[in-house]
Amino acid sequence: MQARRPGLAADQPAIAEGRVVKHFAISGACGAIPARGPLTGLEDDEDGMSEQSFKRFRRRRAPAAAAPSADGGTVAAEPQQKTAPAAPPQAQLPARLPEPWDRIRQVPFDTGAEQAERLPLVSRFRTSPAAKSFDLLRTRLLHSLKARGWNRVAVTAPAAGCGTTFSAVNLALSLARVPGSRTILMDLNFRCPGMARALGIETQGDLSAFLSGSTRIEDQFVRPLPSLAVGLNRSADQDAAELLHSGSCAEALDAMMLRSGADTALFDLPPVLEHDDTAAFLPQVDAVLLISDGTRTTAAQLAACEKMLAGHTELLGVVLNRARDTDSPLN
Ligand SMILES: Nc1ncnc2c1ncn2[C@@H]1O[C@H](COP(=O)(O)OP(=O)(O)OP(=O)(O)O)[C@@H](O)[C@H]1O
Ligand SMILES: [Mg+2]
Repeated sequence: MQARRPGLAADQPAIAEGRVVKHFAISGACGAIPARGPLTGLEDDEDGMSEQSFKRFRRRRAPAAAAPSADGGTVAAEPQQKTAPAAPPQAQLPARLPEPWDRIRQVPFDTGAEQAERLPLVSRFRTSPAAKSFDLLRTRLLHSLKARGWNRVAVTAPAAGCGTTFSAVNLALSLARVPGSRTILMDLNFRCPGMARALGIETQGDLSAFLSGSTRIEDQFVRPLPSLAVGLNRSADQDAAELLHSGSCAEALDAMMLRSGADTALFDLPPVLEHDDTAAFLPQVDAVLLISDGTRTTAAQLAACEKMLAGHTELLGVVLNRARDTDSPLN
C-alpha cells in the first residue's frame, strides 16, 4: 500500500523520480469530473461543421472557385480581339494573409540547451519518469477536455513556489507534441511572472496590453515550437492583475481562442490562497488544475482551495509535484 498525502484520493497514479526533476506525480482523477450541464458545439466535427472546420473547408474550396472553369478553353477561339485578354481571375484577387497562428513569430527554442536560469524542462529526457508523467497527465487531460468540449485550463496552486510554472510549461510542451495540435500557454501571474525565464526566452511581452485589447495574438505572442504559442510578461505588474476582472480581458481571450484555432489553452495563475487574481479569472476558464507540493502543501490548504473553487469552476485534478518515492506505483 502506498503512502498518500492527506486529502488526496487513493486511486491516483504517481510517477517516480526523474533525472532532472524531483518526484512528480499526478493526483486527482482528471477523468473523474462531474458533468457541467449540456455542452454545445462539441460534436461539430462529427455531426456538423464548426466555425474552424468551415474556415478550413472554405480555404480548401477557394482556389477551385477562383480558377478558370473547364469551359474557358472555348474563349481562346477568338485570338483577333483587340482588347487585352482578361487576366486570370486569381491574379485579380488580393494576396491572402497567412492565418493568425502562422503569423505568430517563431523564436529559437531548445529544450536540451543548458541554461542556468531556466526551469527543468522534462522534454530533455523523454524517457525519464518525469517526462512520462507529464505525457500521462497530458493524455488524461485531453480525454477529459475532449469529453466535455472544454479547452481553457487554469493552472494554479495553494501557495507560491509549489511548481505551477514548472508544471504548466512542461505540460504545455507535452501537449504541443500532439501531432496537428495547437496549444496556447499564457503567463497570467502578474504578481510574479516566471514563464519567460522558465522557457529561457527573452521577452518584451506585455500581457496587460493584450488583455486590454490593444494588441492581437500575432503581435504579442511568440512560438517556441510550431504548435505552441506563449504569451509572456517581461516584468511584474501589480495593477495589471485588475485586468483579470475586466470585460476587455474576456473579449481578448475569446478573440484569441477563435482567431488562433487553439485546441488547448493553459493559464499560469498566482496562488489561490494568496491573491484574488485566480478567483477573478475563473469565469474565463473551463476548469482548474491544482498543483500541490508534496513536501509542504497541507490537506487543509487543498481543502481551502476546493472550497474556494466550488461553484465557480471544475477542479480537473490535483497534481502532486515533488512526490515521494512511495507515491509511485512503480516502486
Ligand atoms: N518537480 C520539481 N523538480 C525540480 N525542481 C522543481 C520542481 N518543481 C518546481 N521546481 C523548482 O522550484 C522552483 C519553483 O517552481 P515554480 O517557479 O514552478 O513555482 P511557482 O508555483 O510557479 O511559484 P510562484 O507561485 O512564485 O510563481 C523553480 O526553481 C522550479 O525549477
Ligand atoms: Mg510561477
